[in-house]
Amino acid sequence: MFIENFKVESPNVKYTETEIQSVYNYETTELVHENRNGTYQWIVKPKSVNYQFKTNTHVPKLGVMLVGWGGNNGSTLTGGVIANREGISWATKDKIQQANYFGSLTQASAIRVGSFQGEEIYAPFKSLLPMVNPDDIVFGGWDISNMNLADAMARAKVFDIDLQKQLRPYMESMVPLPGIYDPDFIAANQEERANNVIKGTKQEQVQQIIKDIKAFKEATKVDKVVVLWTANTERYSNLVVGLNDTMENLLAAVDRNEAEISPSTLYAIACVMENVPFINGSPQNTFVPGLIDLAIARNTLIGGDDFKSGQTKMKSVLVDFLVGAGIKPTSIVSYNHLGNNDGMNLSAPQTFRSKEISKSNVVDDMVNSNAILYEPGL
Ligand SMILES: NC(=O)c1ccc[n+]([C@@H]2O[C@H](COP(=O)([O-])OP(=O)(O)OC[C@H]3O[C@@H](n4cnc5c(N)ncnc54)[C@H](O)[C@@H]3O)[C@@H](O)[C@H]2O)c1
Repeated sequence: MFIENFKVESPNVKYTETEIQSVYNYETTELVHENRNGTYQWIVKPKSVNYQFKTNTHVPKLGVMLVGWGGNNGSTLTGGVIANREGISWATKDKIQQANYFGSLTQASAIRVGSFQGEEIYAPFKSLLPMVNPDDIVFGGWDISNMNLADAMARAKVFDIDLQKQLRPYMESMVPLPGIYDPDFIAANQEERANNVIKGTKQEQVQQIIKDIKAFKEATKVDKVVVLWTANTERYSNLVVGLNDTMENLLAAVDRNEAEISPSTLYAIACVMENVPFINGSPQNTFVPGLIDLAIARNTLIGGDDFKSGQTKMKSVLVDFLVGAGIKPTSIVSYNHLGNNDGMNLSAPQTFRSKEISKSNVVDDMVNSNAILYEPGL
């Protein structure tokens, strides 16, 4: 059976005027390596970790600012939400298609909440906790290309043409703010679209991003802003002692206009300064140690390491299944069938290297978990 909403009555959950407080005991195990009667032994011991969660019951009016708003992801996300919000349907070769959120974890998946007279009861994921309805999100953001979102949607070639025609009036007036561009960090083939860039020193660029966030908040009257990096994959930044290893060194390096600080790290610094969550949807090491220090010091959320929702998710699920069944995959082959702009950006070896590291990381745990199949260190 499927239910639409429910309330929890548990000694571990308390509802107050403004928040839901819950306690969760995570039962796990811990190992110790101990000398017992003259020989060292591995001992497995149970361990309980107590987590306390606090959820604000007030759902904020949310603004999402995308870095790379005019890209394939940015224009598709924006158009997809508008299509749902406006209830748009369009003709495909086969049928009339109605917009929906299929493919969204929060909007289209269900969870088991318990049993009722022996029958399993499921509820929508979004009914678990108070959550923003994506229809209500206000979008904005930056792009180094000044193309409006309607033209960017056409350039991306993702949506059916009939849907594009209907979305165009909503998206023509959406124009990305100038972005921070540094050709040293992305492929040379991106240069021709870079006609919308913030001038000045790195410190001035950070200050401009801070101003942009404040102005967006003011103009849209949103309660909260989240920034999501969906711009091109950058090369890895070098980690250098004295440059980006601590919060003080990183901020001083921005002041000195040091070359090795990437645009994504500059956006992230601005967000942390503004106490705005920054999520990284690309593989590069935006979160250098100095930035992590800064985020901890200012208690601001940073997260993300490449979007891993499509073919990458399939790879990790399949490799987990195979290795778990004692079968040894020896190679993973994939290709970018969209042939999109970030695919072109990845044709440069230094940006491809970031992708290679991030995508192989998803199977590292599984390979490292099985020394019968995989010789350690190889
Ligand atoms: N599409 C996916 O399924 C997927 C999956 C995993 C990761 N990603 C990552 O998401 C990112 C975006 O993918 P996409 O397909 O939308 O690429 P895209 O090239 O279509 O879009 C990227 C946009 O970012 C802009 N841009 C580049 N540098 C910028 C900067 N410094 N500031 C502001 N804007 C900048 C570009 O002009 C472009 O419009 C890529 O890094 C890609 O690797 C995508």
